[in-house]
Amino acid sequence: MSKTSRIPGFYNLTPEERLRRVAEFAELTEEEVRMLSKEGNLSLDIANRMVENVIGTMAYPFSVALNFLIDGKDYLVPMVIEETSVVAAASNAAKMTRAKGGIFTGATEPVMIGQVQLTGVSDPFSAKARILERKEEVLKLANDQDPVLVKFGGGARDLEVRVLESPVGAMVITHLLVDVRDAMGANAVNTMCEAIAPLIEEITGGKVYLRIISNLADRRLVRARTTVAKEEVGGEEAVDAIIRAWAFAASDPYRAATHNKGILNGCIAVALATGQDHRAIEAGAHAYAARTGRYLPLSTWEKDENGDLVGTLEMPMAVGLVGGATKTHPVARVAIKILGVKTAVELARVMGAVGLAQNLAALRALALEGIQAGHMRLHARNMAIMAGAAGDLIDKVAEQMVKEKRIRFDRAQELLRELTEKR
Ligand code: MEV
Repeated sequence: MSKTSRIPGFYNLTPEERLRRVAEFAELTEEEVRMLSKEGNLSLDIANRMVENVIGTMAYPFSVALNFLIDGKDYLVPMVIEETSVVAAASNAAKMTRAKGGIFTGATEPVMIGQVQLTGVSDPFSAKARILERKEEVLKLANDQDPVLVKFGGGARDLEVRVLESPVGAMVITHLLVDVRDAMGANAVNTMCEAIAPLIEEITGGKVYLRIISNLADRRLVRARTTVAKEEVGGEEAVDAIIRAWAFAASDPYRAATHNKGILNGCIAVALATGQDHRAIEAGAHAYAARTGRYLPLSTWEKDENGDLVGTLEMPMAVGLVGGATKTHPVARVAIKILGVKTAVELARVMGAVGLAQNLAALRALALEGIQAGHMRLHARNMAIMAGAAGDLIDKVAEQMVKEKRIRFDRAQELLRELTEKR
């Protein structure tokens, strides 16, 4: 009988039963089944309540980046990431920023945009004017949906209406601007958009289709800046090399995509540790980078009158401390405690600072020694561990392989044998 992925009622099974069905389908061994069902710091019970069709959980390394001095306060930054070098690079770069006071940040109010798509009006500009005339009524209806948010000082603040020319004719797009306080905001904003849609239809006589948050969160920006003493990065030539690396990104979307990926390495590692919707952050970052019609780097690097390196970053940062995995994932709760942030805005500011530090580390490594040197050192360590090295033998085997420029599993095994025999 051929295998089928149609398994009616799969979602109604327990995780253990689902795993059994998957094991049959994929012919998993007992050991593979045990590995998937092993409970770590996220119980199957909680996982099963978070999303659908759960059959197990998967652990990632949870690290802490050091040396972050942000707005005069020291932070230990939890990072969850699978890529080697990122945490070490962030810690290194953060250390370089300390001599001149660390990283300074700022943020807008936590305002998210909800979109309501209206079609079927023959006079879209008049529809726009009519919606704006009833702004107070629309905002009140939106705020009636979330008295708790309003009590905490948030709520719908403003309306903006745009007439779009689309491939299927004109559309009138209402933007509902909502201060979501400590939430990421998707739930609050989507609920409000759905609630105001019938009123928008009544006002205009048109038909509403989509009612959904925009991930181009350009009203919820974080800014970070730092001055790095030239000696910290290796002198004035190194400063110039880093600025040249940034200038490449500023002139070329192929490079800018990678440049911004490096920034996101930092932001997303913190997002994962603290249980954020990291896809929303990535979507926002890339859309913001392309807001002028040209994809640009999210940071800038220049030189001040002393010849020191000055970096700035500006990007959307839709993060929350209430709702979602931030509250349900027990590890995310601990991560937030380690970080010690009290508001979503503070979390956003830390993440902006981490993004900037990560970018500094990447540009410095690329411009000065090439990224592979650092990667290779870590790769060699991993190879040594895989070959069975433990304790100080890990570094001994790794260093020798780096020196020989032969970072291979068989060489790691050989060196390990030789070093163990010598003891
Ligand atoms: C690798 O994950 C990130 C970098 O490619 C970023 C960059 O090129 O700026 C090193």
